[in-house]
Amino acid sequence: MQILRIDSSTTGDQSISRRLTDELVAHFTAKHPDATVVTRDLVAEPLAHIDPITTKAIRTAPETHEEAVAAAYPDQRAVLDEFLASDIVIVGAPMYNFTIPSQLKAWLDRLGVPGVTFTYSEAGPEGLAGGRKVVIASARGGEYSNDQIAENQESLLTTFFGFIGVDDLHFVRVEKAGFGPDAIAAGFQAAKQEIAKL
Ligand SMILES: Cc1cc2nc3c(=O)[nH]c(=O)nc-3n(C[C@H](O)[C@H](O)[C@H](O)COP(=O)(O)O)c2cc1C
Repeated sequence: MQILRIDSSTTGDQSISRRLTDELVAHFTAKHPDATVVTRDLVAEPLAHIDPITTKAIRTAPETHEEAVAAAYPDQRAVLDEFLASDIVIVGAPMYNFTIPSQLKAWLDRLGVPGVTFTYSEAGPEGLAGGRKVVIASARGGEYSNDQIAENQESLLTTFFGFIGVDDLHFVRVEKAGFGPDAIAAGFQAAKQEIAKL
């Protein structure tokens, strides 16, 4: 069994989502002591924004690749293969300016691959990347459960992972991080209860 841990917070040792990904790794390794844990820190080692070469490498068939695209392909495909080889995927996903950090978006850009993780037919889109558990470690400054402000962080991740066929998707969240230490402590307490259920 492989557990993949993804982090995308830029707030270093102050990071709430990194504390949550720590807790989630501890939880799942206790449950699956033989699991291999693979860590991808998208801030320490960022993936570049996609460009004309990497877009082709990610999204077109290898036999159609010209030299530069063929050269780019192995590194791009490795990101997808790492995800596909994982049974549990833990994704640290802070809310930055109402959406996910661009580092995390660059990772998603390697996973949405026609013919591999999704396909279209007359019946509509079909996700092909099910069969794994994905747990989002969400952290945000405000409170969004009251629906007063639109958010494109958890909703984006719900749409994306649903589209590629992940039906075992969970959110563990600390919100109201901007309200101060008491709110953060209450958020962690609630999050730990959610983690225990996974
Ligand atoms: C660059 C940046 C942008 C942020 N934008 C928002 C925002 O749009 N809405 C919000 O509720 N909180 C926002 N916050 C607060 C974070 O969501 C909150 O601090 C959260 O804990 C971040 O996760 P992290 O601690 O793992 O970095 C922002 C924080 C940063 C650093």
